[in-house]
Amino acid sequence: KHVAVLLGGFSSERPVSLSSGNACADALEGEGYRVTRVDVDHDLGRVLAELRPDAAFNALHGPFGEDGKVQGILEYLEIPYTHSGVLASALAMDKEKAKLVARASGIPVAESKIRNRFEIGSRHPMKPPYVVKPVNEGSSFGVVIVKADQPHPPQVIQSHDWKYGDTVMVERFVHGRELTCAVMGDVALGVTEIVPVGHSFYDYDAKYVAGGSKHECPAKISPNIYQKIQTLALKAHQAIGCRGVTRSDFRYDDRHSENGELIWLEVNTQPGMTPTSLVPELAAHAGHGFGELLRWMVEDASC
Ligand code: DAL
Ligand code: MG
Repeated sequence: KHVAVLLGGFSSERPVSLSSGNACADALEGEGYRVTRVDVDHDLGRVLAELRPDAAFNALHGPFGEDGKVQGILEYLEIPYTHSGVLASALAMDKEKAKLVARASGIPVAESKIRNRFEIGSRHPMKPPYVVKPVNEGSSFGVVIVKADQPHPPQVIQSHDWKYGDTVMVERFVHGRELTCAVMGDVALGVTEIVPVGHSFYDYDAKYVAGGSKHECPAKISPNIYQKIQTLALKAHQAIGCRGVTRSDFRYDDRHSENGELIWLEVNTQPGMTPTSLVPELAAHAGHGFGELLRWMVEDASC
């Protein structure tokens, strides 16, 4: 089988996609597939039309690769591809719209509002602490946490250097532990706790600089909460109409009561896929090695 691994692209997450894509391409070669690495640029349609692979392994992250656009090109060319389709990708990429669907399915989410960042001005859009997030970025790009004691919204949001679009989601800051759950088809693979080391939250450096965070896999939480997270991750995957592999991120505040407050933050339809990324670790924990996981994803590809 000839697999085109789509990597790179032109979002802020290009470097992350290059590591995901190269790791996946190496492992797929190890599994015996014929692999072509396609560094995605604006001529992707023409390149794929000429290449005519049996399947496309989508290792892109962020806008264009994760938001339904590349999926639309693959549909048009009738090339089976991994991960979610057009609608689920577009929906999951818009953090606010994804939450509307999740909330309607009974998944607990944090209150939020959409603002044009230039409207925010010098008055808090909600009582701090809150988080300002670009509506459609990944890897924590552009995420600003406004602490309870900050008198004004930070100026950085309105700065002309900000390059993550003008629409932001202002979301109540949920204290607590950072937990994530991978889903493969119709099965949740387990829960990992991400413990940032020397960072106040799981930001870009904590995610990708060696030693920036510690993964506790499986998470040391009560069996009850562990199971609840798996159920909610699967529910979000299905409600949004995802396919293949996804990863849902959660916050869990257990400071005040044993059951605590559990909040679903988002589903990632193109989660990081280096061998040390969260999804491959959880797959290994569930008994699927990296090669086996990738083989499953390629064989599950459709259009
Ligand atoms: N957006 C990054 C790649 C992730 O969710 O893993
Ligand atoms: Mg994300």
